[in-house]
Amino acid sequence: MSNLSGVNKPSIKLSQKHLDVNDPNLKIVLDDIQGNILKSHGRTHSRHIFLKFTGKTEDNRHWLNQFASKLTSAYKQHQTSIDYKSTGTEHLFTGILLSNSGYQALGIDDFKIPDDKAFRAGMKDLDFLYDTGPNGVHERTNNPLNDNPDTWQHPFNDQVDLLIILAYGGIDSDEILCNDYLENEIDNIKNSSKKVASILSIEKGYTLRNSNNDVIEHFGFVDGLSNPVFFKSDFDYWQNKEGVEYYDPTAPFDLVAVNDPGGFDEDLSFGTYVVYRKMQQNIRGFKDQAKSLASEISQKTGIQIDTEYAEALAFGRHKDGTPLIQSTKTPSNNNFSYLEDMKGAKCPFHSHIRKTNPRGDTNRLNGTLMRNERSHRIVRRGISYGSKNLNPETEWTDAGLLFLSCQSDIEQQFLVTQCGWSDNSNFPLDNTGHDPITGDQNAKSSDNLWQHEIDGKVIDLDFRYKDLVRILGGEYFFAPSISFFKNLIDES
Ligand code: HEM
Repeated sequence: MSNLSGVNKPSIKLSQKHLDVNDPNLKIVLDDIQGNILKSHGRTHSRHIFLKFTGKTEDNRHWLNQFASKLTSAYKQHQTSIDYKSTGTEHLFTGILLSNSGYQALGIDDFKIPDDKAFRAGMKDLDFLYDTGPNGVHERTNNPLNDNPDTWQHPFNDQVDLLIILAYGGIDSDEILCNDYLENEIDNIKNSSKKVASILSIEKGYTLRNSNNDVIEHFGFVDGLSNPVFFKSDFDYWQNKEGVEYYDPTAPFDLVAVNDPGGFDEDLSFGTYVVYRKMQQNIRGFKDQAKSLASEISQKTGIQIDTEYAEALAFGRHKDGTPLIQSTKTPSNNNFSYLEDMKGAKCPFHSHIRKTNPRGDTNRLNGTLMRNERSHRIVRRGISYGSKNLNPETEWTDAGLLFLSCQSDIEQQFLVTQCGWSDNSNFPLDNTGHDPITGDQNAKSSDNLWQHEIDGKVIDLDFRYKDLVRILGGEYFFAPSISFFKNLIDES
């Protein structure tokens, strides 16, 4: 526990926004919270190393305590980023996440294990009851994710205790050098952990880019445009770039940070819950279905629609990231809401970005308080994996997204977004349909009926994208504070 006490003890308010990384009062907090939570680590190549402890509790603790000296704190991440920008020097990012079984294998006292109920239950537990109903529908249901863990890939069908995230490389880095560097680090982990853990599998992630150098996902859409913003410097960036009058990207510290009961001080040690989902993407299937949709719209309206536009209707953005709805006079990527499109004529209500961040729709349609809607936001830190072929001949190539989201409450953030919104065909309105990208792909409900406006002409459509994304496995983790790892030896 903390030696800090008295009047000079630094502090952070959980509701604090606009964090200043140079605020001396915050240094102690930013030194203790891992990187990639409050801001993305920004590296271009990563390795997700899944491990299971095999040693005795004390040996497991000892090894993890030593290995954790490599962790990248939020503060260190900031410093390495400054160094990279000024000198081009690349720095390894290291993060460590534990599952509930990982805490057990370390013999951590129950009161020091984070108590989020989903985290404690684990992603494979299909019997645990959750409440993900939006708009005050409070019915607890089991397995809201509709997952079938029996079909999951290794290692997700096994017990994963620990996930180590390594990331390296900048936008101009040589791919081979990055991979060599990371493989060398993995060899070091293999050697040092031999007696205490076995490596179950390793996922390789990398940032895909379009011709404009923007980060994209495998369907070809620019990704990572909208995420909650915690630092003042990031807020200033958006404000100067395109303004913030239609959409406020800021978020309070506790949207993502949660007190770590195993950290050095109950007011200063923080971690976050991490949702990990390996999501395979059906690239060919998406293109083929979009082609059918384009031809249906063209026939109905007499206006020639191309496949790319039909694809954009599924996301709510064009491929280059431009939102289908523009609230401002100047083009913007994030400074927009759906206020002027309350019939879903321009941006379908079921499109991926409208479902997963309604930007006030729940307030306008159902009177939900804005702060309530915004409290469900998640922080996305995913990265692509697999084949780089964005135009494959066949469906279901080995390509997709290693989805990672950070939040302070798994049920109220990830599960509400995924189950209460994306999978729910009656959100935000009855018969809205599922999110075509990540909504429940096995759902038997009726097709998506939606209105759409083309050249001022409003038409009704009856079309449903299906089987675009498949879940290959996942787990709930916690990213503990750095002092938690330091305490592993003192307290054993
Ligand atoms: C293979 C799976 C997925 C793909 C290809 C994908 C792709 C995208 C793309 C291209 C965007 C637009 C760029 C942006 O706004 O940053 C986006 C936004 C977003 N996605 Fe996903 N996504 C996937 C899975 C998920 C999942 C599982 C969730 C949550 C349960 C999710 C939540 C969000 C959110 C919250 C946004 C931002 C919406 C906004 O603020 O306007 N995504 N996604």
